[in-house]
Amino acid sequence: MISVASPLFLLQTSVAASRPSPIGTLFTAVRSSSISQEGGDAAPFPPIRVAKRVVLVRHGQSTWNEEGRIQGSSNFSVLTKKGEVQAETNRLMLLHDTFDACFASPLNRSKRTAEVIWGARKEEIITDSDLREIDLYSFQGLLKHEGKAKFGVAYLQWQKDPANFNIDGHYPVRELWTRARSCWTKILTHESRSLLVVAHNAVNQALVATAIGLGTEYFRTLLQSNCGTPSSPFAAGSSGGRSSRNQIILVCQGSSKRDCEDNSPAGDVSLDMLGIIQSQKTAELLLDLKVKTVVSSLTLASIETANSISRVQEAADVLGANSVPRCVEMKQMEDLDIRNDGVLTVVWEKSGKVWKLLLDELSGESETGNTVVAVADPAVHIALLGHCLNVTKEWMGSFHLHAGSISVLDFPEGPAGRGVIRCINYTAHLGRWSLPITRSILTD
Ligand SMILES: *[C@@H]1O[C@H](CO)[C@@H](O)[C@H](O)[C@H]1NC(C)=O
Ligand SMILES: *[C@@H]1O[C@H](CO)[C@@H](O)[C@H](O)[C@H]1NC(C)=O
Ligand SMILES: *[C@@H]1O[C@H](CO)[C@@H](O)[C@H](O)[C@H]1NC(C)=O
Ligand SMILES: *[C@@H]1O[C@H](CO)[C@@H](O)[C@H](O)[C@H]1NC(C)=O
Repeated sequence: MISVASPLFLLQTSVAASRPSPIGTLFTAVRSSSISQEGGDAAPFPPIRVAKRVVLVRHGQSTWNEEGRIQGSSNFSVLTKKGEVQAETNRLMLLHDTFDACFASPLNRSKRTAEVIWGARKEEIITDSDLREIDLYSFQGLLKHEGKAKFGVAYLQWQKDPANFNIDGHYPVRELWTRARSCWTKILTHESRSLLVVAHNAVNQALVATAIGLGTEYFRTLLQSNCGTPSSPFAAGSSGGRSSRNQIILVCQGSSKRDCEDNSPAGDVSLDMLGIIQSQKTAELLLDLKVKTVVSSLTLASIETANSISRVQEAADVLGANSVPRCVEMKQMEDLDIRNDGVLTVVWEKSGKVWKLLLDELSGESETGNTVVAVADPAVHIALLGHCLNVTKEWMGSFHLHAGSISVLDFPEGPAGRGVIRCINYTAHLGRWSLPITRSILTD
């Protein structure tokens, strides 16, 4: 750990079609002083004097994404039509955002995405070779099944233990982390306050991870799909490369009467009109999944949100979405309720118990896997994300979640294995009832 007294900088990752993003819209406020120094020999981040905001976008679908070919830092693939459309969607989303500069990877697929998004803005796009995709050496250009056939053991290691994966005498993921840190140095020392960065899947993960102090073992735990535009927040997209049916869905209780007035914890309050609509939209979104249990905190706003999810689930067969009647188990948990404890440590400890309970729920017998939903205050979800990542409570200050948003945790190796953050702060389903994805002013 270093300790540099410096203000917060904001990191906001991708952005997307109608506004989701898999690790998406990750606005992270990080204090330099809380950033751990990976490997010990890495140079500390330069201190910054003013808050900065960084928006990370992954390029749109490319020809090699479509073919399932390993791209690495090769420069042969270009955007598909779909990729061009995704880039255009991002342009519209960011149209009214103010950026002082755009950094892009020099590879065609990202550079093109950046040009589309940057549109008529006057400043020149700065390409930086450090933003290129992970170098995968002999893997590059191979179809995934060819990689498996030709480099069996190495390919397996790339899948299972990427941090230690080595090929042609290199450790690609370790090299990538070093490169990401060097990118941050350039980003933080650049004079701009609001930056757009357009790059790639792996390098964006490395940027997010190094910013919040997570090491190479976190590769593939924070996912981002092309242009941050997943077709569904639950689906295993091209970014994950793995499919999983065991999921924990964190649903932030909808907007309540309290959110609009003062923040006093006194008295229990119901969802307001906006919250009712949000909870209905969330319930509809979850209809595609078969929810086993909904756990909620004791606040009225959470209970009402949970009830609307279970009502819609149980109506699924009536609606024709599923012929098997569903029965959702409802649970209320005191430990999910943090109305009376503003203290971080208490929230952290209580949420640790909740996390264990959620994992227990997940591990119930089922051939198709289980889906467990937890409805609570955003602060609790942030703590739960922290438990999922196995970080310490200091880490909690790095995140904010949007009322009504959902975050999805996957367990590709089953409930006993580790959790992967498929998406965070997803609000696309709220449509016009969500807040704008990006913040135009630096308020933190
Ligand atoms: C979630 O979205 C809200 C509103 O756009 C934003 O203020 C917040 O920082 C986002 N949080 C994360 C973790 O992305
Ligand atoms: C990648 O190709 C584009 C042209 O398609 C070119 O402008 C760019 O310089 C190339 N980048 C690298 C790193 O070779
Ligand atoms: C990417 O490659 C295509 C040709 O495949 C070319 O038309 C285009 O100009 C290139 N884009 C960039 C940004 O170099
Ligand atoms: C969680 O982190 C601690 C130390 O920070 C470590 O000892 C422990 O093995 C980790 N647990 C898992 C499941 O990775």
